[in-house]
Amino acid sequence: MSELKQFPENFLWGGAIAANQVEGAFDEDGKGLSISDVVKVVRPEDRKKMKIPFPTTAEVQEALNDTNHKNYPKRYGIDFYHRYKEDIALFKELGFKTLRISIAWGRIFPNGDDATPNEAGLKFYDNLFDELNKHGIEPVVTLSHYETPLNLTLTYKGWTNRKLVDFFAKYAETVFERYKDKVKYWITFNEINCILMAPYIGGAFLRDHVADGELLQAQFQSAHHQFLASAKAVEALHRIIPDGKIGCMVVGMINYPNSPHPDDVMTALTDQRNTFFFTDVMTRGHYPAYMTSFFKENGITIQKEAEDDAILKNNVVDYVALSYYMSSVSARPETEGEKAAGNLLSSLKNPYLEASDWGWQIDPKGLRTLLNMFYDRYEKPLFVVENGLGAFDEVEDDGSIHDDYRIAYLREHIKEMGKAIEDGVDLIGYTAWGPIDLISFSTSEMSKRYGFIYVDQDDYGNGSLKRSKKDSFYWYQKVIETNGEEL
Ligand code: BG6
Repeated sequence: MSELKQFPENFLWGGAIAANQVEGAFDEDGKGLSISDVVKVVRPEDRKKMKIPFPTTAEVQEALNDTNHKNYPKRYGIDFYHRYKEDIALFKELGFKTLRISIAWGRIFPNGDDATPNEAGLKFYDNLFDELNKHGIEPVVTLSHYETPLNLTLTYKGWTNRKLVDFFAKYAETVFERYKDKVKYWITFNEINCILMAPYIGGAFLRDHVADGELLQAQFQSAHHQFLASAKAVEALHRIIPDGKIGCMVVGMINYPNSPHPDDVMTALTDQRNTFFFTDVMTRGHYPAYMTSFFKENGITIQKEAEDDAILKNNVVDYVALSYYMSSVSARPETEGEKAAGNLLSSLKNPYLEASDWGWQIDPKGLRTLLNMFYDRYEKPLFVVENGLGAFDEVEDDGSIHDDYRIAYLREHIKEMGKAIEDGVDLIGYTAWGPIDLISFSTSEMSKRYGFIYVDQDDYGNGSLKRSKKDSFYWYQKVIETNGEEL
């Protein structure tokens, strides 16, 4: 046993999943299609050519006409929709204090702009939350995790359209009212800053919705609408669930300068703002000064209504949540160098770091530094709601899976979180990404696995879907049991 006692008694240990990557049942019980249901799988041989999807209307139409659902793994997921009881029992066995899930918006409002909600969808999450509460697992619920109803894309051009603010606010109010006695922790948008890297997944608009040269304008205007939507959700949450807490959530990226060259340092600061701009607005309630010059330089004009500034100012979030998988290196534009990979971002290679099977640079120490940076800046509770290693797993003849690489990754990150807590950071919880194997966000494949629990399904949708425990299952169980003392 280590002598360190870093994690507070009520620390929220658990895991995080998202509706679009686990539920399946994409058209059951009245659910409408979401933007993720029309994203095609990237086959292993195409992985190197993979680009973040930014489809045209014609490409979406083609996906809609394609009834071979095996090409769209998010349509079938890991069948969590029908197997959630079995899966939650396993999470209970792991000792989870919390499970982060998302609500598929389209189960509640199938078209996003419907007058009344879909009762069957509401009932599904009632049952899910009851099951979690029965096991003493605290739900943490994301309102929007890459699941904007597709109709809002096709009819309104996604978040470029201000109308989505009120559609989202109505959806948020509906679920707050319905689940006010069952769910206390909420998150507005998953990785809200991903709109800068993934305009379709983050902003739900299509390539042909934006005129040439207007992409940045569309991205920042959409972000503005999401800030308003988030602020309206914060207002509703505090009114409807006074003992609840609601956070924002970003891709937690730390940007190191490539060298002490002053231009590299400035570039790193500018890149760092791709994360901080979003948390600045949602925690401080106003646009930071540095954006004024950025908007000017890039010819961006945010269309605002008179009440917008007050809405943002009066409704800041209670905590800041982040995902953390890797760090990044920033260099002045003329720098040449080998690149490292990522799902949303690529960066220069950092010679001090190793990389995952998918080329993501593994950097546990960066997590401690980043948590300190966030806490120095906001002095608000922080929550690491995603972290983990996507890796190939091998099933032995006896069915066991020896994923010591995953244990090593998680152990080092948890150690650094402990140090951050010792540094004075108020960290309230940790939910490892994909505690059960799920469909990858970026490639929709299965062979990139994050889980403590193995799911028997391959990249082509074949398999028994049987769940089994990896070595990391027993390891994480111990971590939770000893409140992070035994790693
Ligand atoms: C985060 C997303 O960016 O990364 C998750 O919030 C995603 O939805 C996770 O699954 C890991 O990415 P990937 O591409 O390996 O699934």
